[in-house]
Amino acid sequence: MLFTIISFIIFLPSLTSSSETWIKVGSWFSFGQFPVADIDTTLFTHLTFGFALINSSTYELRIASDNEPSMSTFTQVVQQKNPSIVTLLSILVQSAVGDTNLSTFYSMATQPSHRTSFIESSIYRARHFGFHGLDLCCVTPDTSTTKMEALGILFDEWRTAINRESKNSTQPPLILTMAGHYLPSKNTTSYPMESIRRNIDWVHIVSYFYHLPTMENFTGAHSALYDPSSNVCTDYGIKEWISRGLPAKKMVLGLLYQGYAWTLLDPSANEIGSPATGPAITSDGLIFYKSIKSSMGCDGEKVRYNSTYVTNYCINGSVWISYDDAEAIRTKVSYAREKGLLGYKAWHVGNDDNWVLSKAAAATWFPHFVVLGILRDDMGADLLLSNSSCCRAYKQNGLNTNSLNVRFTFTLSSFHLPLPHFRTFVFSSWDPALILGGRRPPSYHEVSLDERKLGLSNEVIARTGPFKRGHEMEVQVHLPSIP
Ligand SMILES: *[C@@H]1O[C@H](CO)[C@@H](O)[C@H](O)[C@H]1NC(C)=O
Ligand SMILES: *[C@@H]1O[C@H](CO)[C@@H](O)[C@H](O)[C@H]1NC(C)=O
Ligand SMILES: *[C@@H]1O[C@H](CO)[C@@H](O)[C@H](O)[C@H]1NC(C)=O
Ligand SMILES: *[C@@H]1O[C@H](CO)[C@@H](O)[C@H](O)[C@H]1NC(C)=O
Ligand SMILES: *[C@@H]1O[C@H](CO)[C@@H](O)[C@H](O)[C@H]1NC(C)=O
Ligand SMILES: *[C@@H]1O[C@H](CO)[C@@H](O)[C@H](O)[C@H]1NC(C)=O
Ligand SMILES: *[C@@H]1O[C@H](CO)[C@@H](O)[C@H](O)[C@H]1NC(C)=O
Ligand SMILES: *[C@@H]1O[C@H](CO)[C@@H](O)[C@H](O)[C@H]1NC(C)=O
Repeated sequence: MLFTIISFIIFLPSLTSSSETWIKVGSWFSFGQFPVADIDTTLFTHLTFGFALINSSTYELRIASDNEPSMSTFTQVVQQKNPSIVTLLSILVQSAVGDTNLSTFYSMATQPSHRTSFIESSIYRARHFGFHGLDLCCVTPDTSTTKMEALGILFDEWRTAINRESKNSTQPPLILTMAGHYLPSKNTTSYPMESIRRNIDWVHIVSYFYHLPTMENFTGAHSALYDPSSNVCTDYGIKEWISRGLPAKKMVLGLLYQGYAWTLLDPSANEIGSPATGPAITSDGLIFYKSIKSSMGCDGEKVRYNSTYVTNYCINGSVWISYDDAEAIRTKVSYAREKGLLGYKAWHVGNDDNWVLSKAAAATWFPHFVVLGILRDDMGADLLLSNSSCCRAYKQNGLNTNSLNVRFTFTLSSFHLPLPHFRTFVFSSWDPALILGGRRPPSYHEVSLDERKLGLSNEVIARTGPFKRGHEMEVQVHLPSIP
């Protein structure tokens, strides 16, 4: 006998606007010595070029002569593999790399004629080299109200000039972004939030450098997502930005492809917060992700994951390295999705290890997944119906782990079935718009509910209620990681 075939589709509540933009920004840094042509540009939607500097006498952009060749061909080269990739020219608010004295930047920002020189030259350079936008990196909040006001005026004038140039050139306006500190305020002052909201397309949040071996003789999670005992963490910073008026959709979460190494005081005390005696490996403890993997033997047993802070750490004798491995990266990207941020930005692509982190970030699907309930006939055919109001779905937990438990409730009464045989539970990470358009995803995972079999990489861990019309059925699915 042929069963009647029916399918239904269930969306997580946060999926209602899943067609929203989601950006994946990679940073390229000339000092990273990583060939531009080797970037796997298919893993990103945007790439930033770092850096242009500011000439301390003319206030125009200063392009180091050895940067000019890669800058002038950057967009062209990265578009070869990914023609839709968007490029931004990032301007370091310094007159030389490593100069942390922002006097040049502020004498530009506080003087109308200097601002004009800076703005005009930035637009000219971006267009001349084929970039689609400009990024200002990385002004920290200053306790001087005058400086913060100047920043607001700079953004107003910059946006006006960008729009004017766009009209004149009949090209789309340049994108304008800034990289900002994880906390938007300092004491009583803060970034010029109104101006940022008005003029800046989005803010790259520098959500790291919280604990460094040069600053603290206790091991710490340098880019902790959460911290149970202090406000020095990304979650707190994001909430601060939001409470000060920046919409989540204008924020891009920073991911750091490097770790920091401490020398432990006592190798047997090797948790987060254990006593240390300063940096290990390098003078400031900085170590690239690819080196952590290749030369420190950070694999298997040596690597721990702490879901309270959302960080990995690696223990090799008396060396203790805080860093983000794929687990921490996935959880952070899920967090960014969950909080409705615009996307993430990785600093920087040359430090990845064979694209492990970039792939983990790009493939983190939550909450972009769709659950299909399917009744399948004995010919193996199935049918998609529209998502019906019969179905509720909600997330039970999951953001603190690299897995997700989801509980779905099906009320079969709303289906007019002659003979409901609910046999197979199907889920997929796929754009719900396509599903609604009636197309099956190209890959999906199936679990037989009757037999409670393990799925491909997934497990139905519980269900209640009989599969009968008029009854509620609850299914919990444990999704260990990326399908
Ligand atoms: C299906 O669900 C989406 C998201 O909740 C909703 O926008 C859409 O209107 C629904 N379609 C139908 C046919 O119910
Ligand atoms: C700044 O610009 C001036 C005038 O173009 C030039 O002479 C000078 O070399 C530039 N400074 C640097 C550090 O590039
Ligand atoms: C910052 O740079 C300016 C100009 O180069 C210089 O006059 C000033 O002394 C510097 N300040 C500090 C604290 O280094
Ligand atoms: C408008 O564009 C032309 C070239 O397309 C250029 O010569 C001119 O300077 C531009 N004017 C402004 C105000 O940018
Ligand atoms: C600003 O706050 C910091 C701590 O965040 C404190 O050390 C500093 O003294 C404060 N400065 C002023 C001017 O209040
Ligand atoms: C994370 O580390 C802290 C400090 O060592 C510890 O108290 C906490 O239990 C750890 N969390 C997990 C989930 O292991
Ligand atoms: C950490 O301890 C070492 C060795 O005792 C000491 O030299 C260093 O100054 C300390 N660093 C900090 C930030 O306290
Ligand atoms: C520990 O790190 C050193 C480099 O500091 C490396 O040579 C060694 O292989 C690592 N140990 C193990 C057991 O992987």
